[in-house]
Formats: sequence, C-alpha cells, structure tokens
Amino acid sequence: MLLDATSIRVGMVGVGMIFDETYRPFLESPAARHLFDPARPESGVSFVTLAGIVSRTGSRAEKYRAVAPPHLRELRSFVGDTGLTELLASDVQVVCVATPDDRHFAAALAALRAGKHVLIEKPSVLSLVELDELTAEADRRGVLAKVVYHKLLDPDHKKLRTHVADGTLKHVNNGYCSLLEPKAVGTGQFAEWVTGRNPGTYVAVHYLKLIDFTFGPDWALTRVSATGQRGLVAAPTSPTWDSVQMQVAYTHPDGREAAFDIHTNWVTPDNFPGYVDQEVQFRFDNGVWLAHQRKRGVEVCVEGRTPHDLKNTPNHHYNGAFVEPWGERAVRGYGVEVIERFFREVAFVEFGGPADGRPERLHQTRSLRYNDLTADRNVVAAVQALEAILKAQADGHPGAIVKVNGPHGGLALYKPGCPAPDVLYAGNV
Ligand SMILES: NC(=O)c1ccc[n+]([C@@H]2O[C@H](COP(=O)([O-])OP(=O)(O)OC[C@H]3O[C@@H](n4cnc5c(N)ncnc54)[C@H](O)[C@@H]3O)[C@@H](O)[C@H]2O)c1
Repeated sequence: MLLDATSIRVGMVGVGMIFDETYRPFLESPAARHLFDPARPESGVSFVTLAGIVSRTGSRAEKYRAVAPPHLRELRSFVGDTGLTELLASDVQVVCVATPDDRHFAAALAALRAGKHVLIEKPSVLSLVELDELTAEADRRGVLAKVVYHKLLDPDHKKLRTHVADGTLKHVNNGYCSLLEPKAVGTGQFAEWVTGRNPGTYVAVHYLKLIDFTFGPDWALTRVSATGQRGLVAAPTSPTWDSVQMQVAYTHPDGREAAFDIHTNWVTPDNFPGYVDQEVQFRFDNGVWLAHQRKRGVEVCVEGRTPHDLKNTPNHHYNGAFVEPWGERAVRGYGVEVIERFFREVAFVEFGGPADGRPERLHQTRSLRYNDLTADRNVVAAVQALEAILKAQADGHPGAIVKVNGPHGGLALYKPGCPAPDVLYAGNV
C-alpha cells in the first residue's frame, strides 16, 4: 500500500561539524523520507527534505550538493549577508540553526518572525533577554522553538533519569562532570570564531542540561561560580579560554542544597585515545552513579589509524556508521535520533489531526521540557552567569559569583571588593 507523504522542507543555517555528525545522517536516512511516529500514527508519513543551506561563502553547500544523495541535489545555496533573508522567503517550514553559539540568536529570531519552526543547537542563546525574545516570538507566531541537547537521549542518561523518576536514586546532593575536547577543536576547527569564546559555554551546557532536566524541575538554581585558564589558544590576558571550571548550586524544595562541578576544555592532546573524554559522578542520599561515556567497553587499535582518524575507545552510542546485519549501511545513534524526534514533533503539530486542533497539539509539544526553549531558562541563566564571570576575570576581577533570584534581581554578579552587584537580568529566572 502506498502512503501519502506530507512534505516538511528544511533550511539549514551553518553546515559545520554538527551538520555532518547528526543532521546529515538523519536527512539522508530512509527515516527522513518516510518519517513516521508509531506513537502518533495520526501524524501520517512525512517526507523531510533539505531545501536550502545558508553559509558564509557557499563552498560547503556546493561541496555537499556534489556528494548528496540524488533527492537532495536540488537544494538551494544561500550565501552571505542576504542568505538568511532569501532562505526565509523560500518555502521552508523549518529552520535549523547550527552556527557558532554567539550567532544563534539573530538567525533564530529572524526565522521565528518568518513563521518557521526553529531548532537550535546547544547552547540555545547566551542570555535570558534573548531567550525571552525567542519564546515570545514563538508564542506570537504559533511555532516551535526548540534546542538540541542530545545527551538527554543517551541510554545511560535515560536510565539515570528513570532511576530518579522511580525513586530508586533519592535526592541528589552533589556531583561532578568533565568533558574534554581535543586541541584541534580550540586551535584549529573553531579558529574562525574562537576569539572571546570559552569551552564551558560550548560543552558544559550538555551537563547543565542533564542536571537540570534529570533532577528538576522542583528545585531552584541558586548560585553560579567559575574560573578558567588561558594561554594555549590565545594570550593569557585575552578573553579566549582554554579550560573552564564552573560550579552550579541548586536548592531543593526541602531547603537542602545540591552543588555540581563541571570541568571542560578544548586543549586535550590530539593523540588522546578518544575524541572527547566525558565522565560524570552523581551522589544521592542513598546511592552513587558513576558513568564514563567513552569507556563503555570497546577498545580498538589499528596500525596507522588509531588514535587519530579512529579512536581507541570510541563512543558508538552517539553516532556511528554501521553495516547492519541485513546488509544495509546506516549512520545511527542518539545524536541522530534527537533530530528525528524533533521532526516527529513538527509532523504532529502540523499533520497530527484537524486544523482546529493545532493549538492544542502545539501546546502539548511546547510542554516537552527536554527540548523546548521555555524550559531552557536555568541553563541559559547559568551560561549567561558563566560568560559574565569569565569576562569579569579577564577584566581583572577574578572570583566573582552570580546569585540567582536574590535581592538584586534574577541574575546579579558580585565581584570581590565591589560594593554593589552588576544586575545581569532583572526579572525572575
Ligand atoms: N549537539 C551537540 O552536541 C553539538 C556538538 C557540536 C556542536 N554543537 C553546536 O553546533 C553549533 C555549531 O558547531 P559546529 O561544531 O558545527 O561548528 P563548526 O565551526 O564546525 O561549524 C559552524 C558553521 O557555521 C558557519 N557559520 C558561521 N557563521 C555563520 C553565519 N553567520 N551564517 C551562516 N553560517 C555561519 C561556519 O562557516 C561553519 O560552517 C554550535 O552552537 C555548537 O555548540 C552541538
């Protein structure tokens, strides 16, 4: 039986590493050509197609077109300052924003204003004012505004959350998370945009979200502190950071505090046995959870290839290219699954029932805390605090802390020796 396919046309803004690792495998997969959610059969079958790419020079889009599967070779390339406006004037219904983190906001706002559903790479935006503007615009236009935190779909993290939801692990007290990127990222791959940036905003957000989503929402973000080191990617006096250590403190409804240390860098040696080193430990009233995302059991060594283009301790759960037992080739993993999941949500809103039920379907879909921008407040607050603390340190005021929802507003930066705080966000976080 042939099923009717309803088209979802997608525009991509930014086609770098994350496009190659997650968007491209999904967009090229059979799942995109026959998108179907067994839990929502009423949405029918959709055909998700990449219709346009916005990039700075167009060269990546041209290169991709040359190797794309036949059904994607018609995609249009939009270039330079007018590229985004041209993409938004086209018939795409969804825009995915995968530019460097300080360039998400403008593209996402323009796309929402044009009435497109929007998916933004983490971190969604760098300030609560920006977040407020995007969520208000999504409200006005009646569209989705979502963010990708693929670690929430890692099977180990799903199990952690299941233990918490089932009461097996009770009342988190503290923990640490570490995510170390290779030097090639800080000094090479991101060279174009790394000035003034830090690895905390880039990757600590994964763990900020994991903590906030897994152990919340019935608690309150209370304080953020941080420090970091410079001198490898840029001069030791520059605003560009090699490594960042941050601490976030929360208060549970019973008044007890919980605190988490998150360490990140992008200067681990390139011959490190895994591409990214990731480790967590969470301590509860009645248990401890320790996990290592890289050392999950596989160790491989190939002459002349490991640890460079192949890794000694690979994470095949995130994404991997496989020959399936039945002979097909596929790229799969939670990094790809999270993109497919978003498109299922778009299909449900648009095609999951009669037109007069769309507001209710939109409301249901926007209530999903794992990816909706409205549920990203604590993470964005922590990122904004981190950026302000590092800026204060670069300006000669190390040791600042940010208090959340205190007497001086939603986010107030206290610098040692300064009598009054800087109010970063006046409203309630
Ligand atoms: N979900 C994840 O785990 C994950 C992993 C890696 C990166 N990311 C996020 O994805 C985003 C991109 O990261 P990446 O690793 O792909 O970086 P990248 O540097 O490999 O790619 C960024 C791309 O954006 C393009 N670009 C820059 N400014 C642009 C603009 N104004 N308009 C259009 N294109 C522009 C660049 O030319 C480049 O192609 C970042 O926000 C990052 O935090 C997420």
